[in-house]
Amino acid sequence: MTERTLPGVIGAAAEPRDMPLIAEALAAEGLPAADLPGRIAFFVFREPGGGMIGFAGLEQFGAAALLRSLVVLPPARARAQGSAIVAWMAAEARRRGVGELFLLTTSAAPFFEKLGFRRVERDAVPPAVAASAEFTTLCPASALCMARRLEPRDR
Ligand SMILES: CC(C)(COP(=O)(O)OP(=O)(O)OC[C@H]1O[C@@H](n2cnc3c(N)ncnc32)[C@H](O)[C@@H]1OP(=O)(O)O)[C@@H](O)C(=O)NCCC(=O)NCCS
Repeated sequence: MTERTLPGVIGAAAEPRDMPLIAEALAAEGLPAADLPGRIAFFVFREPGGGMIGFAGLEQFGAAALLRSLVVLPPARARAQGSAIVAWMAAEARRRGVGELFLLTTSAAPFFEKLGFRRVERDAVPPAVAASAEFTTLCPASALCMARRLEPRDR
């Protein structure tokens, strides 16, 4: 896949050589990594001319997808990179035919709310998403489920 750029962030499909750093960073954040990469499409992000600033994964189930494993590496935080990565991932999901993004979070609900995600009950998510490893075994039951419909502007 060729690189795609949004202001301030360049994203591209992760390469196998990126996976050890991704697994290490997920472990450092206490985020699930037991099923990686599995059926998850990973993307890595860097600043123009710079090294990796973060990554995120997309696990697609037809017209729905899980946004998961989003990490902005600590030195790059609080500079709107996480917001740019979510926008990039929403556009990528839409290009892949996704109409609604779901996620689980224990600590970042206010961040995702600022980006248009709304809390939903777990029994409102499509069955395939609810049957995913992240929903059934990897994330604590206390994690909040959030969703955002993708619009034509998400590209
Ligand atoms: C959550 C994370 C991706 C945010 O990345 P970031 O680049 O620092 O975020 P941004 O700079 O784009 O923040 C956008 C806004 O969200 C707020 N925000 C960021 N992280 C937040 C958090 N964990 N809780 C509440 N608010 C948060 C920021 O203060 C900012 O608010 P503002 O617009 O009023 O200034 C990053 O902190 C991270 O990787 N955390 C560890 C892993 C994690 O929790 N991932 C989410 C898994 S579900």
